[in-house]
Amino acid sequence: MKIAVLGMGTVGSGVVNVLNTNKNKIESLLGEEVTVTHVLAKNIDKARDIDLSGIQLTDKVEDIYEADIDAVIEVMGGIDNTYEIILQFLKNRIHVVTANKDLLAERIDDLVAVANENEVHLNYEASVAGGVPIIKTIENSLNANQISEVMGILNGTTNYILTKMTVDGWTYDDALEDAKAKGYAEADPTNDVEGIDALRKIVLLSRLSFNKKVDIKDVPSIGITKVESEDIQIAKNLGYVMKLVGIGKYSDSLSASVEPIFFKADHQLASVNYEKNAVYVIGNAVGETMYYGPGAGSLETASAVVSDLIDVLTTPVKGNFAPSEKAVIQNEEVEYQYY
Ligand code: HSE
Repeated sequence: MKIAVLGMGTVGSGVVNVLNTNKNKIESLLGEEVTVTHVLAKNIDKARDIDLSGIQLTDKVEDIYEADIDAVIEVMGGIDNTYEIILQFLKNRIHVVTANKDLLAERIDDLVAVANENEVHLNYEASVAGGVPIIKTIENSLNANQISEVMGILNGTTNYILTKMTVDGWTYDDALEDAKAKGYAEADPTNDVEGIDALRKIVLLSRLSFNKKVDIKDVPSIGITKVESEDIQIAKNLGYVMKLVGIGKYSDSLSASVEPIFFKADHQLASVNYEKNAVYVIGNAVGETMYYGPGAGSLETASAVVSDLIDVLTTPVKGNFAPSEKAVIQNEEVEYQYY
């Protein structure tokens, strides 16, 4: 089987790494050889740690549109231009795997419609919580449930900052600098600290959990830029820890938001620290469940991407998840809350 990878940054190189390291296991699942034949990269002359010999490296996506490939992996990011590129592959009836939460949170319903028209897969496990298997879990493993709540620590950068401030007594600025140096933050960390990255992820999780189209513009978010060290220390002395969480809830109506919340120290999400992510889901049959792990990282995110690749290459196309109705979101005021 032949694969193209669009983007050779942290996640793209992780994908090549996982495919090489776990080649035998992956090929035994696929029942045949899998080869990355094409890579799209902005700078094709850049020196890389990863061995790309034998792969056609190009900076022109047109070189790949007509190539004989079975699936494309999009890990380059971006919204408008990437949307057009993914659309073209879907129209060419090529399966697409993407980790692009920014694009999906805005346009997933349009992309799914085209994927379904063309009878191909569009998989996106890595778009929420990196290596934590949450997309297929909600879509498949929990699909016998009515889900009443999905709540997650969905951004490693802000969780790292809040943990450093709470546990280690660091200042906000020092913790942010450290999160950037460790590579957790987005290219523009505003999206992390203002809650935009978590907003995109809770939009995707709410859509799956409640079987509704969710317009990102209907979901309010506040980040952690106004959080003071003193708030955190006072709460800590009272037995609470602050976490930035995305929440979707459904009872009579749907509510969704991203906001900093004070959790009692014995709540399951209170002990999810540093850059780790966790998603807590309540279903009416299964009850409370929680999924924990790395929300970012090269191999960690590639774990989810390659799992999607195996899935699209081995599963017959039965139509990608496509809610028909738009959610009406009714929120109470978004402010500091205690859980
Ligand atoms: N900037 C993101 C985070 C990376 O901090 O979680 C993974 O989406």
